[in-house]
Amino acid sequence: MSGQAIGVVYFSGTHVTKTYAEVIGEALNGLDCTVKLFNVTGYASRQIPLPITDFQAWIFGFPVYADFAPCVINDWLPTLEGNSKPCAQFFTYGARTSGYAHFHTMQLLGQAGFQVLLSAEFLGRHSFNVGGWQILPDRPGQQDFVVAKQYATLALERFSTPSPPVFQLQKPLLVPG
Ligand SMILES: Cc1cc2nc3c(=O)[nH]c(=O)nc-3n(C[C@H](O)[C@H](O)[C@H](O)COP(=O)(O)O)c2cc1C
Repeated sequence: MSGQAIGVVYFSGTHVTKTYAEVIGEALNGLDCTVKLFNVTGYASRQIPLPITDFQAWIFGFPVYADFAPCVINDWLPTLEGNSKPCAQFFTYGARTSGYAHFHTMQLLGQAGFQVLLSAEFLGRHSFNVGGWQILPDRPGQQDFVVAKQYATLALERFSTPSPPVFQLQKPLLVPG
């Protein structure tokens, strides 16, 4: 279960997702994993190919922007070659809604060739607090980090479990009318 090399990818405009990514990375380090963080917030960072095959598993963390992962991430994910690597995803959001982010991002990662084994969401202060809003100003806090560490443990468990058989969708049988 331990000893895996795990890449943790995150986008973070106001450092909420970054904070969670770091906590998750530290938790995985504590579970004997080798972890590397990849900050893909800036345009230039998304032009550098991710070393997908250098890691046994990947974790993707994004904020929810208007019910989805950020548009630039939705544009970038289809450029990846997942090579059937197991992955987990997580989202941070400002207490409004996580909208369609889980399902939509799972689809994009799956279409890019990753096996998505886990998805989670964590609360964080709203980005718009920088402009005067007051939504969850003290989050994330210790209570959130406890949950984030549990997520790291569960992700590692899933990465270490042999993959269930993949069922491919069959074309429906056409019955002549
Ligand atoms: C353009 C924009 C749209 C957002 N849309 C949502 C939303 O739909 N639901 C929500 O709960 N929070 C929303 N938020 C708040 C962020 O998801 C939340 O603050 C997140 O934790 C920020 O993470 P970051 O600091 O890593 O960028 C939005 C923030 C921005 C900037």
